[in-house]
Amino acid sequence: MADLSINFAGIKAPNPFWLASAPPTDKAYNVVRAFEAGWGGVVWKTLGEDPAPVNVSSRYSAHYGKNREVIGFNNIELITDRSLELNLQEITQVKKDWPDRAMIVSLMFPCEEESWKRVLPLVEATGADGIELNFGCPHGMPERGMGAAVGQVPEYVEMITRWCKKYCSLPVIVKLTPNITDVRIPARAALAGGADAVSLINTINSITSIDLDQMVARPIVGTQSTHGGYCGSAVKPIALNMVAEIARDPATQGLPISGIGGIGNWRDAAEFMALGAGSVQVCTAAMLHGFRIVKEMSDGLSRWMDEKGYERISDFSGKAVTNTTDWKYLDMNYQVIAEIDQDKCIRCGRCYIACEDTSHQSISQLIGAEGVRRYEVKAEECVGCNLCQITCPVEQCITMVPQATGKSYMNWTQDPRNPRAVT
Ligand SMILES: Cc1cc2nc3c(=O)[nH]c(=O)nc-3n(C[C@H](O)[C@H](O)[C@H](O)COP(=O)(O)O)c2cc1C
Ligand code: SF4
Ligand code: SF4
Repeated sequence: MADLSINFAGIKAPNPFWLASAPPTDKAYNVVRAFEAGWGGVVWKTLGEDPAPVNVSSRYSAHYGKNREVIGFNNIELITDRSLELNLQEITQVKKDWPDRAMIVSLMFPCEEESWKRVLPLVEATGADGIELNFGCPHGMPERGMGAAVGQVPEYVEMITRWCKKYCSLPVIVKLTPNITDVRIPARAALAGGADAVSLINTINSITSIDLDQMVARPIVGTQSTHGGYCGSAVKPIALNMVAEIARDPATQGLPISGIGGIGNWRDAAEFMALGAGSVQVCTAAMLHGFRIVKEMSDGLSRWMDEKGYERISDFSGKAVTNTTDWKYLDMNYQVIAEIDQDKCIRCGRCYIACEDTSHQSISQLIGAEGVRRYEVKAEECVGCNLCQITCPVEQCITMVPQATGKSYMNWTQDPRNPRAVT
């Protein structure tokens, strides 16, 4: 049976599944129930200076798929709206009652050394295992000079991280904003400031939809709205790429990463770990489906690890990093061709339309006796773009088959078709 326990930047947890700093972790009642359900740790909802911020009503909106499936989630909430004292009391009690779970406290204070100096000893006194610096909140707090307003300025990231290392002995995780051109820059700044780890991503600036009757974006506050922070399944590809960027960067190599963004099941979690995450954090999936999802995550990950012969998370964490490279190093001689399984094909014609209208006209539509249609790939025309496979509604009906070209690896820097090739 696989061992799911982790030691992430000195923070121990029975499993890598942590709840991200957000409503699921904003009070003892929630966190205790999360721990009962099996979560390995939590990042407590971000604490700030008193008086606590005041939230508006309403606060959330969504980007829906078919059948009202929530693909993306958007919020305009601020950090905790409860007092610092109450939060610190509850954190102390919960950590005392659940000593084996990771308790990380998220913090967002003004860009003044005195503020951090004042609060850090209070946080450390709770018995928490680590702190996470929220340099990512994209709405409300930046207007007050905090959150993403800090995360977008590497000098501030480094400076505040340094203060935290100076006034606190706990591991410091710097939570990064995705609302930036190159996420490696603030990650390097965090490391320069002494960060023990980074976590990412926080939410992405977003407007999910417009009420065309009232002519206002959602979520609606009276007759107005504002941009929010996007999260949930839709942001997973963006988060995975940003995690990979940091994991691949020689300047931050080995810096522990807590992966966040659209994680909803064990497979999502394993993917983040394969790209270098040592723990994962979940918010939207827990908000939509409840704390019990952690059971499927733990069981699924454990089963998969057993199947693959991985005994612990570190056995596969980061294994996909070296296989993620720059385009110029991809093998120009590798070739795949689409193959249609005629027994599985339901003759819907979607692959044909996609390839005919927007790809390489490599699928033939043959009309047989009694008007029965049949679709066949013209192997000599197919460039192996995957579009037909992506469009096909039947799983495993179209497969992309690697071809034996007899040619060895050659990347673009070596390719004679490249005028700047190094030969
Ligand atoms: C309603 C809501 C409130 C949030 N509040 C915070 C917060 O206080 N501090 C913070 O660091 N991140 C906050 N987040 C961001 C999440 O911690 C997380 O980074 C983001 O939602 C991406 O993860 P997900 O796709 O699993 O939701 C919040 C997210 C939501 C949806
Ligand atoms: S892989 Fe691309 S080019 Fe080949 S048949 Fe499919 S859509 Fe056409
Ligand atoms: S999209 Fe798939 S199921 Fe539809 S015709 Fe093409 S191969 Fe057959």
